[in-house]
Amino acid sequence: MISRRHLLKSLGLSAFSIPSLLSYGAPLNKGLENTMPRSDDPNYWEKIRDQFMLEKDKVFFNTGTIGAMPKVVVDRMTQHLNYIGSNVADWAYKDDNKEDFISGYNNLMAIRQKVGRLINADASEIAMTDNVTHGMSYVANGITLKAGDEILTTDQEHGGGQSSWKVKEKRFGAVFKTVAIGKPITSPNEVYDTIVKAFTPKTKVLMLSHLISGSGAILPVKDLCAEAQKRGIFTVLDGAQTVGQIKVDMKDLGCDAYVGCFHKWIGAPAGSGFMYVKLEHLKNIYTTVASYRWDDHSDEGFRFTQRGTGSFPILKGLDAALDFHFEIGPDRVYERIKFLGQRLRTGLRAVPKVKLFSPPESMCAGTTVYNIEGWTGTKLQDTYWEKARMRPRSQGDTFGVRHCTHIFNSEAEIDKAISLVTEWAG
Ligand SMILES: Cc1ncc(COP(=O)(O)O)c(C=O)c1O
Repeated sequence: MISRRHLLKSLGLSAFSIPSLLSYGAPLNKGLENTMPRSDDPNYWEKIRDQFMLEKDKVFFNTGTIGAMPKVVVDRMTQHLNYIGSNVADWAYKDDNKEDFISGYNNLMAIRQKVGRLINADASEIAMTDNVTHGMSYVANGITLKAGDEILTTDQEHGGGQSSWKVKEKRFGAVFKTVAIGKPITSPNEVYDTIVKAFTPKTKVLMLSHLISGSGAILPVKDLCAEAQKRGIFTVLDGAQTVGQIKVDMKDLGCDAYVGCFHKWIGAPAGSGFMYVKLEHLKNIYTTVASYRWDDHSDEGFRFTQRGTGSFPILKGLDAALDFHFEIGPDRVYERIKFLGQRLRTGLRAVPKVKLFSPPESMCAGTTVYNIEGWTGTKLQDTYWEKARMRPRSQGDTFGVRHCTHIFNSEAEIDKAISLVTEWAG
């Protein structure tokens, strides 16, 4: 049984925080008290696997698209959905403490604080969003650029990260400029030099994926943000593939803005994300989705979090997913993901006729992209499923599959995947 003190400590909170947590709803870590293995349990990861609803005869390698949810997440969400269905008449509306019938009008401070703890930022700099696409759109729409101002990015950005900047180009005459980076990338310096060489006096925004979804490459964003800032360039990072996979620390990265989601690597329900912007910039950003607080700067994060009626059960699921992540320990999660990813890459590198599109090991975590010579991604994806009920995701004709490893995967699953690919590669 987790004591109240342990619980508060594990959340980085003092007893003074209790009222805001209670107003957020059901007790924290509900459902985890008796189910989590002890950290020294020799079968620790098998027991963690048991916490997931994922059917045991299937192997999931597609966290990069949508994460597998721990059971506690689904339970918290469905319990809350049932609660709302049965008790909506209880809501007196004027009663601020009963804030969990709809989201979109309250400041969601408790969950913003919890996100702040995860990414090392203050809650005032964090707004809750539905996903990365929303977060990036808030940033791109909210800042002012004039005709000729340049937005610099790479040629490997996701549509949800880059498209709001293309709108900016079409609507305001800003210039959306991409530079080609390798696939595979051969070193952090290669990326750094390519991007820095492309800066011009007109560059006003640098937008980059922290981790490229199509190769698994972790870009040298800290150094790039520092260099950009020396030149007065606003930096915004797309963290769709990072939060829950690798450590994400706003103070360390030093970027001006960061957008991320929880529905991939944190295992939260679909439709949960955030936007972080340094307070000095956030106060100058217009909101895209406006409600009563659109111009109220007393809580900048709330100004963007107030975005009309939304689903509270999703936030309950997110809350449980964050508790689950903290309960295991973020560093332990990242180490395990990397350990399994590295095991996969080491095995694949030894197979002739297999080409990796992921960068050197120092730039990788749990995302690996590879193909068998002469195969398409669809063929590899479908063969995995037909022969072994394994689910990586196709990356199109050339780049094979993206194969994500997470804490619910095992060494045996990775070894089986390597031996299958070895067999298929002939
Ligand atoms: C790098 C990157 N950016 C943005 C997105 C879009 O994320 P969302 O669907 O949460 O808006 C994804 C989704 O896979 C992604 O990988």
